Amino acid sequence: MPIKFVDLAAQNAEVRQQVDAECERIHDCTAYVGGPQVAQFEARFAQYLGVGHAIGVGSGTDALRLALLAAGVGPGDEVITTPMTFIATAAAILQTGAAPVFVDIEPDTATISADAVRRYLEAGTFRTSNGPRAIVPVHLYGLPAAMGPLLEIARRYNLAVIEDACQAHGARVHVEGGWKRAGAVGTLGCFSFYPGKNLGAWGEAGAVVTDDAQLAERVSVLRDHGRLSHYLHRESGYNARLDTLQAAVLLGKLERLEEWNSRRRAIARRYCELLSRCDVQTPIEPEGAESCYHLFVIRSPRRDLIRQALMRDQIGCGIHYPVPLHLQPACAALGYRRGDFPVSERLADTILSLPMHPHLTEHDVRTVAEAVAAALCAH
Ligand SMILES: Cc1ncc(COP(=O)(O)O)c(C=O)c1O
Repeated sequence: MPIKFVDLAAQNAEVRQQVDAECERIHDCTAYVGGPQVAQFEARFAQYLGVGHAIGVGSGTDALRLALLAAGVGPGDEVITTPMTFIATAAAILQTGAAPVFVDIEPDTATISADAVRRYLEAGTFRTSNGPRAIVPVHLYGLPAAMGPLLEIARRYNLAVIEDACQAHGARVHVEGGWKRAGAVGTLGCFSFYPGKNLGAWGEAGAVVTDDAQLAERVSVLRDHGRLSHYLHRESGYNARLDTLQAAVLLGKLERLEEWNSRRRAIARRYCELLSRCDVQTPIEPEGAESCYHLFVIRSPRRDLIRQALMRDQIGCGIHYPVPLHLQPACAALGYRRGDFPVSERLADTILSLPMHPHLTEHDVRTVAEAVAAALCAH
């Protein structure tokens, strides 16, 4: 039996009745844009994260772009981030007119190195006229970045912290004396509800969250054509609203997110146990960080061999991501070269994402772990 990398059908089976009923209500009143489900979802998501405001938007990329714009980022500014992420992190920065500046990641967690950020700021040689304006830490694979040190640096250099929490719905981080949800720590937090995420819609969707009422208002106006009233526009904004139908799906799935995440965590623990005797590196959670295991990523210099064996056995797997952003053609104009970020480059060559979703059975997890072990033993 094939083992799926993600299993959206199994998720849907759990929420289908509830979501279908909600969708029927939407069809009855035809409020496809700006229906009451949007505000309902925003309120529940904000409550779940423990933040003052959540603003539904069209995608995670919209969330990042609007959060950056709301924080005042624009042409002439730099935004410090990591090259080990999905292209959207850098694309959103570029779309504001600012320049992404990459710093390398921590070798053990694969999240942005606070020391590297500090070194860059201390060196004081910047790439643009205004210099750095914001930091975008990415909670890669669902593991929160080291937010304590990053907040400290941001305060010292007066930078906004815009969390890319697009893979980290429900992850937690211990910061400044207490546990907080990823996305709820910085100036603004950005989420994607792309279907395969821990909290996924039935299409494109995203959200920006913040405790700052003024920033929330700015994001809210920007996502809706800069609108003050129906045909009065304060500024030239975007069409980046969250669909009512997607909000209905998200309302249904949000109720199950905690349970689904705890299943993911249990599956991750099981993988770690079963793979402990194999010559592969399994993910770690540093003290003060709790991953929501959007992805379960192992590392091995023999990654390609393991991948081929899994594919032969019809076990879904992937590489997130094979090409760090500084080596992407889309970022060529930034002028980086191979060798600039050795930790990210090494990681890209050795990582493999194993199947990870809340509906994997013990048998599935065993089968995957045995296939990994067999691939390594056979060579
Ligand atoms: C780390 C990261 N940032 C940004 C995004 C962009 O989100 P979306 O695809 O919803 O625009 C994603 C989603 O794929 C992501 O994984």
